[in-house]
Amino acid sequence: MRLAFDTERLAGRLFRDADAADIAAIAGDVDVARMTGSIPHPYGVESAEGWILTHWGKRRRGVDHTFAVIRKNDGALVGSAGLFKRRAGSMWELGYMLGRNFWGRGYATEAARGVIAWGRAELGAEAITASVFADNPASARVLEKAGFVSTGERSVAYCVARQAPMAMLGHELAADATEAGAASRLRDAG
Ligand SMILES: CC(C)(COP(=O)(O)OP(=O)(O)OC[C@H]1O[C@@H](n2cnc3c(N)ncnc32)[C@H](O)[C@@H]1OP(=O)(O)O)[C@@H](O)C(=O)NCCC(=O)NCCS
Repeated sequence: MRLAFDTERLAGRLFRDADAADIAAIAGDVDVARMTGSIPHPYGVESAEGWILTHWGKRRRGVDHTFAVIRKNDGALVGSAGLFKRRAGSMWELGYMLGRNFWGRGYATEAARGVIAWGRAELGAEAITASVFADNPASARVLEKAGFVSTGERSVAYCVARQAPMAMLGHELAADATEAGAASRLRDAG
């Protein structure tokens, strides 16, 4: 299995111990942590080191393939993106986070597309799910641009950083969805 992906501006590779300081800076930002379910706040280098250590075992069990997302032109670690399963046997789910300095340049969408293509090729992933907190329209837009559609499913998930249950909206990428299909849907929507 190829444990890397590549897009026009970004590269996905496995995390290294030395990435912990960058991850602590990214995930230590409360505006990143509050849009995820599991990142506590505050969040320091030791937490990031522990998180990186969990990847090996989860990958070995085949339940999580999370990549460091690197900007090719300067080697900056812009965030993480990957596919994971909430339970063995459940569908692949897309997750990502980017450091605040890297928002608004299409990187999350590009990384999402890279991970999806990787998952199709390397995991044989078919339909892929994703969930966003209802107060995260930027992430919902990323999913839309990557070809996901809202399932209309609403759930409640605990947000560790906010220490509160939050409304969550379900999205799904169909097994036969293509980037061309996503692009034409966006054109139709104006
Ligand atoms: C959400 C996040 C991944 C977006 O990353 P990004 O690289 O800025 O995303 P992109 O540039 O690819 O696309 C963002 C889209 O959202 C739109 N957007 C941004 N803020 C928005 C808002 N408040 N309301 C609606 N749309 C918004 C942008 O305009 C853009 O859409 P466009 O290309 O049609 O203009 C990033 O902000 C992040 O990591 N946030 C914290 C963690 C997080 O939310 N992770 C996802 C958990 S589900």
